[in-house]
Amino acid sequence: MSTHPSCPSRLYRLAHTCLGALLFSASVIAQDLALLEEEDEQIEALLERMTLEEKAGQLTALADNIRSLNPHTNPDVNQRRADELLAEVRAGRVGVLFNGRGIKGARLAQHAAAEESRMKIPLLFAGDVIHGYRTVFPIPLAEAASFEPELAERTARVAAVEATAGGLHWNFAPMVDIARDQRWGRVAEGSGEDVYLGKLFAAARVRGYQGKSLASEDSVLATPKHFAAYGAVSGGLDYNTVEISPQTLREVHLPPFRAAFDAGALSVMTSFNEINGVPATANYELLTTILRDEWGFKGFVVSDYTADMELIAHGFAENPREATKLAFLAGVDMSMQSGYYVRYLPELVRSGEIPMTTLDQSVRRVLRLKKALGLFDDPYRSLDPEREAVDLKRPEHRALAREAARRSIVLLRNENELLPLSKSTKIALIGPFADDRQNLHGPWTLFADEQEAITVAEGIAAALDDPSLLQVVKGSDFEAPLPDGIDAAVQAANEADVVVLAIGETQQMSGEAQSRTNIVVPAAQQRLAEALSETGKPLVVLLRNGRALALQGAVRDADAILVTWFLGSETGTAVADVLFGDYNPSGRLPVSFPIEPGQQPFFYNHKRTGRPYVEGGPPQFKARYREAPYAALYPFGHGLSYSKFKYGPVRLSATTLPWDGFIDVSAEITNVSERAGEEVVQLYIHDRVASLTRPVRELKGFRKIYLEPGASTVVSFRLTREDLQFVGPDLQWVAEPGAFDVWIAPSSTAGTPSTFVLEGKPSS
Ligand code: BGC
Repeated sequence: MSTHPSCPSRLYRLAHTCLGALLFSASVIAQDLALLEEEDEQIEALLERMTLEEKAGQLTALADNIRSLNPHTNPDVNQRRADELLAEVRAGRVGVLFNGRGIKGARLAQHAAAEESRMKIPLLFAGDVIHGYRTVFPIPLAEAASFEPELAERTARVAAVEATAGGLHWNFAPMVDIARDQRWGRVAEGSGEDVYLGKLFAAARVRGYQGKSLASEDSVLATPKHFAAYGAVSGGLDYNTVEISPQTLREVHLPPFRAAFDAGALSVMTSFNEINGVPATANYELLTTILRDEWGFKGFVVSDYTADMELIAHGFAENPREATKLAFLAGVDMSMQSGYYVRYLPELVRSGEIPMTTLDQSVRRVLRLKKALGLFDDPYRSLDPEREAVDLKRPEHRALAREAARRSIVLLRNENELLPLSKSTKIALIGPFADDRQNLHGPWTLFADEQEAITVAEGIAAALDDPSLLQVVKGSDFEAPLPDGIDAAVQAANEADVVVLAIGETQQMSGEAQSRTNIVVPAAQQRLAEALSETGKPLVVLLRNGRALALQGAVRDADAILVTWFLGSETGTAVADVLFGDYNPSGRLPVSFPIEPGQQPFFYNHKRTGRPYVEGGPPQFKARYREAPYAALYPFGHGLSYSKFKYGPVRLSATTLPWDGFIDVSAEITNVSERAGEEVVQLYIHDRVASLTRPVRELKGFRKIYLEPGASTVVSFRLTREDLQFVGPDLQWVAEPGAFDVWIAPSSTAGTPSTFVLEGKPSS
């Protein structure tokens, strides 16, 4: 097995890339902020000449049906005819077109805006490039499992190169919603349940998308979304109500946005949900008090798709005119797809209900960003057919897709070291995902071609010494049995050395509006697994999933389980890399896998309760379910490797942390196996007593290390008071003196804690 021979130098290189990226993002902020803050004569002159309709047009984003469209998303986009839309562009009644595809149509539309309209203001082309444009990377949740934000920065960079080659300037990503309920389908689009991890991935993706300057031809403006608390919808039901304490909102759901802005993001998208009775898209406290007044955000705010219109369905606005007024005055600069702003803003300004200065300020924000992107200098920026032909077909992009995919796979279980398999094993590859090409990408890939992706069967066949060692049988459909499917599968299993079972969720089961009540493997596939388990053949489960699942029966008890999410263009090659040990798995769960579906919402950093159940203790009148403890089957942070690592005791540089000082927490990690491999060393804390109760554990740091067989290294983390802060009763971040438990561990439930004390503030 060749486990990453280049790893040490690779990690060294990563450290440098990260530093470089930080420097880049700092300069992006400085340079782009200057453009947003200084008075710009050209823009002021435009504002003076623009009519009210033209101003409202700049605040209007419409689906691009001038270019060819993907019919699977936002289907009503096809209703407007291209020539009607071009006429709107010429009239200056639209400033942004989104989710169009191809340079030819984009140049046509840009010509209408930049050369045929009265003000000649260029269009901004936007799109949902969530995990790749033409080259598809793992879904964001999968990529978070790599615990390598730097990897996400690199895939985001490539996505930006391809997206701009396809004519986009503005990306509706990253999705930074924290998701603590696995019934919610959009778990797939984010970085999972943890805030610390979520912040790092949010910032990394922004850096990747925006590159070294927005003006670069291959940079896209990033849009953290959905602001805010969209992941906290009740019952995991997409679009549903959010009832949330202001502390949880500020401590869990807002920090990834803040991290994205600190990394330079200059636009943000509102969410569909209401928060404590006020829809996010008309939420002054969120969009103005917090975003502008507290955080000083200088970019612009766009509504989600028709979210301003939906204020009426929420029961918050009586009619379209009022919805427009409420959304705009709350702080939504731009309206997506409803067309409300261009219809109602001019009249609302004429009637004096909306001040002209407020309208001008929103238009100014949008025009400044168009200028920062270089569109005033060259409206045809990123609209180069030659670049489109070259940059969408780069082999290095596919190589990165393979690297990202194998780094996203999580090995949950490996009884008797069944994996890795030898390349001379006779394999029965069974299941609806075995040779399927329709579910490799996962949700939100509007610009890719599934024919270009590699299936599991193709990947495994290519890796085996002899492709005839592989027999592929479907066995079952995704949600229904196949006639004689199980019989054929059992027969293939009996003829093989090992069964590899590719089962799980289709890509239609996750993503927007795909909430599930029962987060299990569909029944037909479960029956197939039970039958195969009865053959007694060693069973490897390859799980396809966009969320954590509650694994049951033969799936749960399989000899080995690999979580393969939706891995994108290089699915088959990456799966084969891990299956045969050409890559030693290093992914860790960014979401907890529950024991039972009914435990949702379940997340590792829950509170303790007054009656915690202690493993092995009496269960009566304790916080547990009749059928399951208040625990995960596989917790956040869990993941195995083909190597074995031993954790030495946690050492503290002192037992007290002075108010303005620090404490170093370290442990020696040893690779006690015969294989080189990577380990994700995780640092958790628990604040024992506080003025508001604290979670049982909180992630505060991690390090991905590479160790040769028998090698050891000391991993050390520095903690300061800032790491111990939480949002207190008065909504301010506060650290309270007292005792803290601290773990260095391979997962959120492993390890033995040490303790230190945060000293009080010295009296001056
Ligand atoms: C989604 C957004 C997306 C937008 C534009 C909405 O339905 O919630 O995430 O950016 O559509 O496609």
